[in-house]
Amino acid sequence: MVSLPQNVVNKSIATGEKRLFFKQWLKSPMQLGTFAPLSMKLAHLAANQVNADNRTTIVEIGAGTGRLTRALLAKGVNIDRFAMVELDHKMCGFLDHSLKQMYQSKKHPPVIHGNAENLVNIIPRTWVGKVDYVVSAIPLMYMEETLRERIIQASLDVLNPVSGSIIHVTYSPVSPIRFMEGEIIQKRVVSLWGNIPPGFVWRFTPKRYLHDLS
Ligand SMILES: C[S@@+](CC[C@H](N)C(=O)[O-])C[C@H]1O[C@@H](n2cnc3c(N)ncnc32)[C@H](O)[C@@H]1O
Repeated sequence: MVSLPQNVVNKSIATGEKRLFFKQWLKSPMQLGTFAPLSMKLAHLAANQVNADNRTTIVEIGAGTGRLTRALLAKGVNIDRFAMVELDHKMCGFLDHSLKQMYQSKKHPPVIHGNAENLVNIIPRTWVGKVDYVVSAIPLMYMEETLRERIIQASLDVLNPVSGSIIHVTYSPVSPIRFMEGEIIQKRVVSLWGNIPPGFVWRFTPKRYLHDLS
């Protein structure tokens, strides 16, 4: 297991990331949801919701330029059981390039260019049904309800049916999938009111798992 040393992000990555994020936001504001990456503080608080050991499988969706990715890697997650999914191909290129720099051309976790609605088909086949965490910063709050539901359903479809959960970072103090309360337990686990804008982390656990256990 190769973990990421802390503070390895060089200045050119940090500057390039803000520039690219803003540029892509101008093109697709709803897809990005915000004009700047997550604050590192919010990213670390979100990453801390993941209880990872060497066997933990994690899929990050909406990885963007990789702030949350770096917070997860700094926790020492197993890079053989970690993958990122991102819809914007320029961000994928940036993230892949920055990971290469961080790992100095050694093996690094894969950046999958794809749509989170299609998770079952784009993550490694052997992971389907075994993912412990889907970690998301996708701006669900700005999306149509049907699209939010498809992304959440796609995440549920790859999760471990006994213990899997979705960790979602958002700028909304209200759950973006409140309408799914019948099926999903929704707990706000972080409230960072001092963030600009205030940031929140939600844990979504499917109720059907509880039924399966009883
Ligand atoms: C708020 S930004 C990501 C922030 C980033 N994780 C960070 O740490 O700063 C949301 C990201 O979700 C991506 N996204 C939106 N819809 C998506 C989808 N259906 N599948 C995959 N990625 C998506 C956007 O392209 C964007 O990069």
